[in-house]
Amino acid sequence: MTVAAALRLTEERLAAAGVETPNVDAELLVAHVLGVSRSQLHAEREREVPDGLNELVERRTRREPLAYVLGEWGFRHLTLKTDARALVPRPETEIVVERCLALLAGESAPRVLDLGTGSGAIALAIADEHPGARVTAVDSSPEALALARENSEALDLAIELHEAGLEAAEEGWDLVVSNPPYVAASEWDSLQPEIRDWEPRAALVGEGLHEEIARRAHTLRLVLEVGDEQAESVAAALDSLGYSNVTITSDLTDRERVVEGIR
Ligand SMILES: C[S@@+](CC[C@H](N)C(=O)[O-])C[C@H]1O[C@@H](n2cnc3c(N)ncnc32)[C@H](O)[C@@H]1O
Repeated sequence: MTVAAALRLTEERLAAAGVETPNVDAELLVAHVLGVSRSQLHAEREREVPDGLNELVERRTRREPLAYVLGEWGFRHLTLKTDARALVPRPETEIVVERCLALLAGESAPRVLDLGTGSGAIALAIADEHPGARVTAVDSSPEALALARENSEALDLAIELHEAGLEAAEEGWDLVVSNPPYVAASEWDSLQPEIRDWEPRAALVGEGLHEEIARRAHTLRLVLEVGDEQAESVAAALDSLGYSNVTITSDLTDRERVVEGIR
């Protein structure tokens, strides 16, 4: 089958399965099996598609996240290995990294903690973009930590990784960053299948963790990713805990998703 025909057929199958962006997903899957970038696809339209596409498309029709099917996902300047051991890194989390880098500007060797590192996305991006930073990444999930370690080794970015919970924030840090679980258990059933049926529930469901991290953290700077509609109450909690310069940053779709403060 040619690339042009495979793109048409794949898009139809994904649309029938209820995938939200069948066109984009079809292009990324076909590009992946060809080993080319999505932008190069138009030059390959008459080429034969190699074996392997059908298996990937079937996985995607079962609503497995595209990042797990591809096995890798872009995050800032990095390509991270992604699978069901950890949450798929999201675009809004790239803004979290941006705020960390802004707060660390001018610091030559800051001590940074990424609390709940998952795939290692935040920790590795900070290590990549602030080479002097001494980054520690912890998670309560051994599976997530194993994936973060594989990413650290594959990218040759040295970070310290260990299994720990919120108590890690109590050591002294120049910056603590966290994208903790913040989905209410009552919302679980309404999540899209890609999240509900495939991503680790323990990475998503949690309540009150922002406030607890803010209370326990012994740090000069704190940066937290928050869910929709949570920014104002988390910012108020930081204010009442004595943080100064409390600031809310929106993501590229204008949703308030990052709260930071200085101690
Ligand atoms: C929303 S995910 C964020 C993953 C990654 N930082 C990212 O932004 O893509 C939350 C992570 O926190 C971890 N986690 C949940 N509760 C935790 C706790 N009490 N202590 C440490 N890690 C925790 C989960 O295992 C999960 O990997």
